[in-house]
Amino acid sequence: MKATAEPVVHIDDDRFKVTEWRFAPGAETGWHRHGHDYVIVPLTDGTLALDHPGGTRTEARLTQGVPYSRRTGVEHNVTNGSDTAPLAFLEVEVVDDALARRRKATMERLAAAFNARDLDALMACMAADCAFHASAGPDAEGTRHIGRDAVRAAYAAVFDGFTQSEWGEARHIVDGDAGLSFWRLRATDRAGRKLDVRGCDIFAFDGDLIALKDSYRKARV
Ligand code: NI
Repeated sequence: MKATAEPVVHIDDDRFKVTEWRFAPGAETGWHRHGHDYVIVPLTDGTLALDHPGGTRTEARLTQGVPYSRRTGVEHNVTNGSDTAPLAFLEVEVVDDALARRRKATMERLAAAFNARDLDALMACMAADCAFHASAGPDAEGTRHIGRDAVRAAYAAVFDGFTQSEWGEARHIVDGDAGLSFWRLRATDRAGRKLDVRGCDIFAFDGDLIALKDSYRKARV
């Protein structure tokens, strides 16, 4: 059995994970898939033997201090190609995209909950301290619903206003602390009138959850 490379974690916070990998001669990392974009900074010269899915093997020369970058999704087993010399590099992973992915997943769950008319599922997407600014209302922000009880009541009123509703063609974008969802609302109101308009939500987050849903939609005239 081959020796296993030794990981030493130097930084592990909400934005970066920095791991020093120390390889004895012939040691390997084992198969792994990279979940983040990353930069490798060789701490020594050396040769890596890289096993790839499908059974191919390549070699990569490492030069001390000369970095290279790779993207999320790389899958391989990495071995120190030398039988005599140890090898080491720093792996710098950008992990704040993990938060962005969790936020996008929250937006997808919210959209699904609207289409399922599921109030509990909707509120599970909202932060403890949350608000909903409706697309219409007396204020510059529309109608402002502040706090979980008010937000839940406002979401219930949205469902009550439509006998049928579907937020389709959804697309979700996260950029830093902001989220943007585009959608097309096709609905029928209590009076039997059909609605078919595009709109969007601008989100602010508290951690993974939505602190503010700020809604906009087209008015057909
Ligand atoms: Ni790797």
